[in-house]
Amino acid sequence: MKIAILPGDGIGTEIVAEAVKVLKVLDLKFETETALVGGAAYEAFGHPLPDATLKLAKDADAVLFGAVGDWKYDTLDRPLRPEQAILGLRKNLGLFANFRPAICYAQLVDASSLKRELVSGLDILIIRELTGDIYFGQPRGRRIATDGHFPGSEEAFDTMRYSRPEIERIAHVAFQAARKRSKRVTSVDKANVLETFQLWKDVVTEIGLQYPDVALDHMYVDNAAMQLVRAPKKFDVVVTGNMFGDILSDAAAMLTGSIGMLPSASLNDKNQGLYEPSHGSAPDIAGKGVANPLATILSAAMMLRFSLNQPEAAARIEKAVDAVLTQGLRTPDIYSEGTQKVGTVEMGDAVVKALN
Ligand code: IPM
Ligand code: MG
Repeated sequence: MKIAILPGDGIGTEIVAEAVKVLKVLDLKFETETALVGGAAYEAFGHPLPDATLKLAKDADAVLFGAVGDWKYDTLDRPLRPEQAILGLRKNLGLFANFRPAICYAQLVDASSLKRELVSGLDILIIRELTGDIYFGQPRGRRIATDGHFPGSEEAFDTMRYSRPEIERIAHVAFQAARKRSKRVTSVDKANVLETFQLWKDVVTEIGLQYPDVALDHMYVDNAAMQLVRAPKKFDVVVTGNMFGDILSDAAAMLTGSIGMLPSASLNDKNQGLYEPSHGSAPDIAGKGVANPLATILSAAMMLRFSLNQPEAAARIEKAVDAVLTQGLRTPDIYSEGTQKVGTVEMGDAVVKALN
């Protein structure tokens, strides 16, 4: 088994180091190889996703990814910006199924910006389609408008599109995930306005007929955003497109107290996966040793479960994370009065200790 380690930028290097530390003490048989990605790769090789990094990721059984991006790259041509690395990996590895669980740990209910009773016991799974939609649709670009409200002026455009097979396969992923949980799927769309999401809704409904044991309902994305902060526990598995999933998963993250707690898995049809925290590179706190490594450590647990067939090791990590929270250890993002504030490395060390 081979794991490609791609720490990336900002806090990425700090949090991935903690996850690697945790993996190493488990004493499993796997090889790791580290490579640059994002802004770090741009600095060294002039490209955010160098060929060697892409090849390493493709050849590995799993990729453990930190985060990419920094404001200082915002003026680069788009193909050279750090974000293109993660989009390129998703596309080139065919990682169409993105799992973003949002679990509110009992120890952290008071870290959420929502009332305790709304989030206590929350356990939802957002399944985001990750290689289609307006993120990848062609054509896109800038031009001089020949029609519309202001012909002759500069305009920009993107293409939202989904094909039937793309919707079918993510729908199957969602229904199968629901079978292992409470057998409920909410499909989020904007079928009242967009053709793309009318097809989405039709296809998800059709695939749903093959899963009579799973209850399916449909929700418009604006309503879903509202319901997520009104009554989040009404959801179980949520399946949606690339852009809606991007937005809703950040909102769902805050229900759990901090986006610093949220792992994610992105899988292709061969169960090869890329595992990354749902948060970004947080350049504002990078290098200060205060970033929360738990989302990355939990992502490593998802990696063991989904791609490396090590469910016991995954469960051990998850238990250890639970234990350090019970001990009252908190990075600043989840700190509340009466708990003990720790830094990135201390948190990683505590997880290692809890494992032993
Ligand atoms: C995410 C991020 C990415 C996305 C960015 C960094 C390209 O926000 O993984 O949610 O938009 O998908
Ligand atoms: Mg996002």
